[in-house]
Amino acid sequence: MNQTAWNAVDEYIDTQLVSSDPVLDAALAACTSAGLPAISVTPSQGKLLHLLARLQAAKNILEIGTLGGYSTIWLARALPANGRLITLEVDAKHLRVAIQNIARAGLTEMVELREGNALETLPELAAEGLEAFDLIFIDADKCNNPKYFEWALRLSRKGSLIIVDNVVRDGRVIEAESTDADIQGIRSLFEWMAAEPRILATAMQTVGSKGYDGFAIALVIG
Ligand code: SAH
Ligand code: DHB
Ligand code: MG
Repeated sequence: MNQTAWNAVDEYIDTQLVSSDPVLDAALAACTSAGLPAISVTPSQGKLLHLLARLQAAKNILEIGTLGGYSTIWLARALPANGRLITLEVDAKHLRVAIQNIARAGLTEMVELREGNALETLPELAAEGLEAFDLIFIDADKCNNPKYFEWALRLSRKGSLIIVDNVVRDGRVIEAESTDADIQGIRSLFEWMAAEPRILATAMQTVGSKGYDGFAIALVIG
C-alpha cells in the first residue's frame, strides 16, 4: 500500500460520505492561492473532528493553530447557535486567509480569531476565566505540544475532549534519538499523557491524502 492507494481511498471515502461543499472547497482554494502550506486536515479528518464535536455536544471549542481556518469551519459547524469557537494563530498572513474563509462560511459571529503566539495567548485566555472548553484541538507547532496539552487540561472540565493532530509523522514518533524538536515535542506529549491520571487517552495512526500520521485523543476524566 502506498500514497497512490491512500489518495484513491480518501477520494472514495469523500465521494461516498464527505459530500463536497462549496464553502469548504473555497476555503482550501483560498489557502492554496494565498500560498499557505497544504497542511489543513483532510476532508474526512475534518468530518471526524465535526463528529467528535457533535458527540461532545460542544458549545465551546478551542483550536490552537488556525492556518486558513479549514478545520475551524468543520468544528464551528458542529456548534449550536449560541456556541463559540476560539482559534489561536501566530501568523498574520494565515489569519487574513482564515478571516475571509470564516466570513464566507457565515461563521464570523461564532468564531473568534486571536493573533499571537499561542504560548502567550493561552495564559491570557486562561486569565479571562471563560467557561471550560468542551473540545480542544491542538494543531500548531509540534515542539510545544506538551505545553499546549498542559494548557488544554487547565482550560478543560471533566468530560472535555482534547485532540492532537500529527502525532505519528511518518512513524518518526518512535525515533527516541531524533534531533527534530517536533518529534521530541510529540514524544514528550506521549510521556505527559501517559503520566497524567486525569485523562483517558489513545492515539490512532492514520493514512490518507496527507500521508502517514495520526491523532491523539484524550478524555478528561478527573
Ligand atoms: N488546523 C489547521 C492547520 C493548522 S497548521 C487545519 O487543519 O485547517 C499549523 C498552524 O499553526 C499554522 O498556521 C502555524 O502558523 C500555526 N502556529 C505555529 N506555531 C504557532 C504558535 N506558537 N502559536 C500559534 N499558532 C502557531
Ligand atoms: C505540518 C503541520 C500540520 O499541522 C500538519 O497537519 C501537517 C504538517 C507541518 O508543519 O509540516
Ligand atoms: Mg495538523
